[in-house]
Amino acid sequence: TGLFTYDPGFMSTAACRSAITYIDGDAGVLLYRGYPIEQLAQNSSFLEVAYLLMQGELPTPGEFKNFEHEVTHHTMMRESLRQFLNGFQYDAHPMAMLCAVVGSLAAFYHDSLDIEDPKQRHLAAIRLIAKMPTIAAACYRYSIGWPTRFPRNSLEYCTRFLHMMFEVPSEPLELPPVAAKALDLLFILHADHEQNASTSTVRLVGSTGANPYACVAAGIAALWGPAHGGANEAVLKMLEEIGTADQVGKAIEKAKDKNSGFRLMGFGHRVYKNFDPRATIIREMCHKVLNDLGVHDPMLDVAMKLEEAALKDSYFIERKLYPNVDFYSGIIYKALKIPTEMFTVMFAIARTAGWVAHWLEQNVTPDTKIGRPRQIYTGSGPRDYVPFDKR
Ligand code: CMC
Repeated sequence: TGLFTYDPGFMSTAACRSAITYIDGDAGVLLYRGYPIEQLAQNSSFLEVAYLLMQGELPTPGEFKNFEHEVTHHTMMRESLRQFLNGFQYDAHPMAMLCAVVGSLAAFYHDSLDIEDPKQRHLAAIRLIAKMPTIAAACYRYSIGWPTRFPRNSLEYCTRFLHMMFEVPSEPLELPPVAAKALDLLFILHADHEQNASTSTVRLVGSTGANPYACVAAGIAALWGPAHGGANEAVLKMLEEIGTADQVGKAIEKAKDKNSGFRLMGFGHRVYKNFDPRATIIREMCHKVLNDLGVHDPMLDVAMKLEEAALKDSYFIERKLYPNVDFYSGIIYKALKIPTEMFTVMFAIARTAGWVAHWLEQNVTPDTKIGRPRQIYTGSGPRDYVPFDKR
């Protein structure tokens, strides 16, 4: 391979040093700043986890209060930003809208942003964490033709988001307690995952000195694909296509057939080769949510049957393919009445905490260089231009 190491998909290349998240894929371990994901899922909240990822330590009560205050003071969307939504076709995919609207934040805040100044960097990170749910909910409401709701800053992060999504003026929104709890848990589990494709994208764009809104918009674009964050939407569509538990066998056979172009969505992971610790926590929450809400979703039966059948099948065993974080998350979102097209948007809200933490870390890491991979050239050698009439 000549002068360079050929490593498609960066299977064995560490592109940076980071003190944020640790994964041991063989042991199924995930730590944020040293804290096991299971303990954070049990005891923490998304906003506290966002602080932890950004600042490196759990906040004291005073620090948390300040942080929450900062975030709630940046939840509003500028009116002109909201009007930007009006240019979209009514049925635009909310990920397309989110990507564009977040990218356009750069137009609103670019001039005032000096990324050399740590205070300005912090403010940009806060703005992104604060505004993402407001923008996400506005995209959803636009797509169903409803006017945008203002963020109610007396509410906590996830409850506020659910209000912006579903509240209508005439009736108070009755939220079952499990709804915000489940959402908060999903956000904790999705908050960071070291150098996944979207975070690496944020870092690559960040390495050029681009502003953080542009970096995060690029992260959203990378997240959208079905091999990454788009998998949660793809899982639900797949389960609905399979339809009933007795069709699971056929789906398994199709996923094993390389010519079918079909993979079991929500299965497999680049790093986890034993189990995804997030999937274990989500599976449990999924049962609790459906139980508490009194929902019977036949898709859960299909999912359980599919998991059981795949885990017994030598194809999946040999390749170490296990359910990942996205396998059960869609069933929870669906029970919370979040439409399928919004699933990846939900992932984006949560991953914003990780994206900004990595962007902040990158900006204080002395050996940060512009990301500029090389290639193995496979094209033609030098040759002379041929005029049109001679081709
Ligand atoms: N269904 C069927 N076969 C699979 C699957 C699957 N879901 N995933 C991997 N394989 C096979 C693949 O065909 C290959 O087989 P062989 O060695 O015979 O050629 C082998 O397993 C290794 O797969 P790979 O594509 O080389 O592995 P990777 O590390 O490049 O890909 C992945 C990881 C997550 C992209 C892949 O497992 C996949 O496409 N899964 C489905 C999509 C999905 O659920 N994505 C969410 C990932 S977790 C959350 C996130 O990152 O956003």
